[in-house]
Amino acid sequence: MRVLLIGSGGREHALAWKLAQSPELTELFAAPGNPGIAGHATLVTLDIDNHDAVVAFCRERAIDFVVVGPEAPLVAGIADTLRAASVAVFGPSAAAAQLEGSKGFTKDICARYDIPTGAYQRFNNAPKAKAYVRAQGAPIVVKADGLAAGKGVTVAMTVDEALAAIDDCFEGAFGEAGAEVVIEAYLDGEEASFFCLCDGKHALALATAQDHKRVGDGDTGPNTGGMGAYSPAPVMTQEMVERTMKEIIEPTMRGMAESGHPFSGVFFAGLMITAKGPELIEYNVRFGDPECQVLMMRLKSDLLPLLYACANGTLDQVTAEWSDDPALTVVMASKGYPGSYAKNTPISALPADGEGAKVFHAGTGLKDGALVATGGRVLNVTATGKTVREAKERAYALAGKVKWENGFYRNDIGWRAIEREK
Ligand code: AMP
Ligand code: GLY
Repeated sequence: MRVLLIGSGGREHALAWKLAQSPELTELFAAPGNPGIAGHATLVTLDIDNHDAVVAFCRERAIDFVVVGPEAPLVAGIADTLRAASVAVFGPSAAAAQLEGSKGFTKDICARYDIPTGAYQRFNNAPKAKAYVRAQGAPIVVKADGLAAGKGVTVAMTVDEALAAIDDCFEGAFGEAGAEVVIEAYLDGEEASFFCLCDGKHALALATAQDHKRVGDGDTGPNTGGMGAYSPAPVMTQEMVERTMKEIIEPTMRGMAESGHPFSGVFFAGLMITAKGPELIEYNVRFGDPECQVLMMRLKSDLLPLLYACANGTLDQVTAEWSDDPALTVVMASKGYPGSYAKNTPISALPADGEGAKVFHAGTGLKDGALVATGGRVLNVTATGKTVREAKERAYALAGKVKWENGFYRNDIGWRAIEREK
């Protein structure tokens, strides 16, 4: 099979690494890719926003299957254009990608299908939103409706904080994404991420993970795209996985099909495990970054037929095997991230991959042939172990061998799981 992978992050490096091991793969292309992905794929310069150009490339190079990594092209409808041109694609239609693209859309599905989630209301103006917050009291959660790169959510511990967040949204802090606001009850519990493939009619549970959203040790400082992750999430017992499938994933899949927009791709459910059980915080319609990196380290099965089964509706005919050994990844980021940071800082040495240990590239580039950091999140140092503690020790030993002066990382990735192991 000839495959085109779209994206350029650590997630896509992990996908490329795993796809490249498939006996069914004949050639892998990546657009735009990164220097790590270049080890597994031919990089191509393609304007991803120009869907017709992507189709033309697929025709020229006889691409059989397109795997879309990030959400933005999906929300923009790249899967629709490819399917209309008879190119198989991993990833949902624009209509189905609304599960990530619009928080209000997802909340309405939850209400209609009785999916456990925080009680909510949608607002298109500040006065009504504020009156609702005053009536409900704090803690309460204020969310910009649309895609806001993970920054559109305020978990307000006081009413004043919530009122300020409402002003931010309607005053344009998140652009178009904030034209509508969802106000939601605060859920108390432990967070976990759940990944599940779906072909529109069948669902195949993959694995669980936990990430670390805050930039600083001890979960302090501003939110980021994720500073590290591990899999599996100990809080996701077999019982919680079964309940998530039955109470959250299956009704969503049914709801999407009944609404005429069957979902094909990966459900990434952000869950809060409360005293009542799993409740949905949000859906993403693509793999998590860096959660994908730890998932790929644990996946024993060939990835390509699993993703392809999503595209052709045969997910009931495949299974996924996982290593019981946990995997953990530490994100190395440019100093200053998630604020502003210097670009093109040199990375002078990377450790070699070992058995169950690997450095995935995210925001890296080549400048005059030398490796440089081009983004906020730059490297994902990943390792497996018999325990989370062992995976953590191995990942940090590897991170210590990276020679990159402008890089930093959290020192406590995995703390919650390691506490449990004690
Ligand atoms: P989201 O972008 O929806 O994942 O929200 C970002 C983060 O805000 C989540 O990972 C949670 O930590 C937190 N959060 C979102 N919604 C709620 C909620 N209803 N209750 C408590 N925390 C929440
Ligand atoms: N790490 C969180 C995300 O990919 O959305």
